[in-house]
Amino acid sequence: MDLILSHCSSLYISTLILLLFAAKGTSESMFNFTNKCDYTVWPGILANAGSSPLDTTGFELPPGGSRNYKVPPNWSGRFWGRTGCTFDPHTGQGGCVTGDCGSNKVECNGAGANPPATLAEFTVGSGAQDYYDVSLVDGYNLPMVVQAGGGSGSCLSTGCVTDLNQHCPTELRVGEGEGCKSACEAFGRPDYCCSGAYGSPATCKPSVYSEMFKTACPKSYSYAYDDATSTFTCMGADYTIIFCPLSTSRKSARDTSPTTGSVTGSNNDTVVVDSPWFPDFFTGHSSETLSFSPSSIASVALLLFLTMH
Ligand SMILES: *[C@@H]1O[C@H](CO)[C@@H](O)[C@H](O)[C@H]1NC(C)=O
Ligand SMILES: *[C@@H]1O[C@H](CO)[C@@H](O)[C@H](O)[C@H]1NC(C)=O
Ligand SMILES: *[C@@H]1O[C@H](CO)[C@@H](O)[C@H](O)[C@H]1NC(C)=O
Repeated sequence: MDLILSHCSSLYISTLILLLFAAKGTSESMFNFTNKCDYTVWPGILANAGSSPLDTTGFELPPGGSRNYKVPPNWSGRFWGRTGCTFDPHTGQGGCVTGDCGSNKVECNGAGANPPATLAEFTVGSGAQDYYDVSLVDGYNLPMVVQAGGGSGSCLSTGCVTDLNQHCPTELRVGEGEGCKSACEAFGRPDYCCSGAYGSPATCKPSVYSEMFKTACPKSYSYAYDDATSTFTCMGADYTIIFCPLSTSRKSARDTSPTTGSVTGSNNDTVVVDSPWFPDFFTGHSSETLSFSPSSIASVALLLFLTMH
């Protein structure tokens, strides 16, 4: 959406901000997928039962690429990265070396990841808290972190920045080392799987394997009852899911420096707010040059308000 407006009015800007914040509480969240790996990743998306699917259930993300998707209110589900995929350019048929969902296509169409796969799990609160975590309970295939932006609450980043494939014990290794199984997957023992007699937090304890995962990735779920140190909350945020966060940047995963934000049209009929964007917006660091006239601001505010509901 193109905003070329003239004149500035603090009253109208305040109105706009108020409307944006009001709208944000109930609107859908924006999820940004960014691939910092030096190889292509094919994210897979699975909505939990009862959640409407996103616009995609799987897509290709080249090195350095990023895509935004809207997530509807109260959505819950999971994201993961597939690696080593080949899809026939004519038929679209194919599969992946890790994280394959068995759909035989780029879109996963309601199928989940074949373990081992690093999983990002979300429950979007839509007016209540969002819950999110990165889980290695189904094993590990690539580094992945989740960052929250523009929300309120603790909103910490989580995930696994370490390349666990390089530290994977032989008995958990997959193929040439492109994935690392969970001990449950590798050995099927109830004490590793937290099943049977071990099916409760009181009886299922960390194992030598889950502790190895936990040491490498302290904020990720390393076994089924690892909730205390692995579940994170935030309210009204947008999220960035980054594959291989360290490969182009040595910054800490918990980097809170503001990103250069802007008001962008994610598609032709929706206005979304990339947060945190206000500081850049007002200091003019945004790539777009914005100025305002009272009447156009009012219509923009109204438009934003309507489209975000
Ligand atoms: C996703 O987030 C990254 C990092 O903040 C940003 O550089 C990129 O432009 C965003 N992608 C889209 C499609 O907005
Ligand atoms: C989301 O869930 C909350 C709590 O269950 C409910 O009050 C709200 O109406 C839901 N929002 C939508 C858009 O479904
Ligand atoms: C917006 O619509 C134009 C023309 O219909 C199209 O070329 C363009 O790709 C669309 N942009 C997005 C982001 O969907």
